[in-house]
Amino acid sequence: MLGAIGDTPLVQLERLLPGPGPGIYAKMESFNPGGSIKDRSAAGMLLDRIRSGELGPRSVVVESSSGNLAIGLAQICRYYGLRFICVVDARTTQRNRSILRALGAEVEIVEQPDPHTGELLPVRLARVRELAASIPYAYWPNQYANPLNSRVHEHTMREIVEALDGRVDYLFAAVSSCGTLRGCSDYIRRSGLNTRIVAVDAVGSAIFGNPVMPRLIPGHGAAVRPELATATMADEVVHISDLECVVSCRRLIQRESVLAGGSSGAVVAALEQYAPRIPADANVALIFPDSGTGYLDTIYSDEWVTSHFGEISHLWNSKEPITFPAYQEAL
Ligand SMILES: Cc1ncc(COP(=O)(O)O)c(C=O)c1O
Repeated sequence: MLGAIGDTPLVQLERLLPGPGPGIYAKMESFNPGGSIKDRSAAGMLLDRIRSGELGPRSVVVESSSGNLAIGLAQICRYYGLRFICVVDARTTQRNRSILRALGAEVEIVEQPDPHTGELLPVRLARVRELAASIPYAYWPNQYANPLNSRVHEHTMREIVEALDGRVDYLFAAVSSCGTLRGCSDYIRRSGLNTRIVAVDAVGSAIFGNPVMPRLIPGHGAAVRPELATATMADEVVHISDLECVVSCRRLIQRESVLAGGSSGAVVAALEQYAPRIPADANVALIFPDSGTGYLDTIYSDEWVTSHFGEISHLWNSKEPITFPAYQEAL
């Protein structure tokens, strides 16, 4: 099972942008066994330590994650018989809690927000620190600061470069812990490749120093700047709103039959903004971190979309290509 992590398909998307233009290729990370790119991060942070004996039968893995990373960690911990305690909060979907329990993880739910900030994340992290300090042989992967999280993605980038015969002119990758982008960027810089790296962040995320605002779509964006982030990891940053994310996800289905997660929609929205600057003979790689199956009650629910944004289905049903000003009007 663990051998199925990585080597995901790179598919050409020929109908995403109107007319002839650059080659657009999407790395379909939903093909990992746990359903997302975070299988790679989980493997990167656990496998070498397990194989070297640093983590063994008495070890207890403790992490705060509400989704993809938790699933990746849970499946590896189950495989090696390690105990895994996952601290989640009330916003974690029932589906993800059920997947985690099915994989044998112990799910601890934090209900009360921090009394000073009203945020749940600090309470979750405080609980993880408490568990890590009090349980013998506890290991906290700490994805936001762990270099093993980014190092594993040097391989993700290598797969893309090899599939495109060494020519990747642009890379678009969503950011949260920054593991994916940092690892890809380290590979690109070290190999001397001439790839322009575009980080795709959420409006309301603090990663690149903007003020924190409430966000609806999980996956990309973060309320803090991760330790893995560096000043040189990206050449440009594009911030994408929840609305743009939803519209681009729906468009991906309309145009390419790809049921993708929210951050993949963000990457597509960023590409669309950026497209006029991309030469027609360029190769563009997009990383699609997960599938849309975890977003059926939000992005792919007409009721949910209407309740948050009003009636906007014309933005993806339109025969005309959707341009950025159309998003702005809808806002
Ligand atoms: C769906 C999705 N997209 C994007 C990301 C961001 O990836 P990274 O943490 O490597 O920056 C994550 C991280 O959890 C994710 O779950």
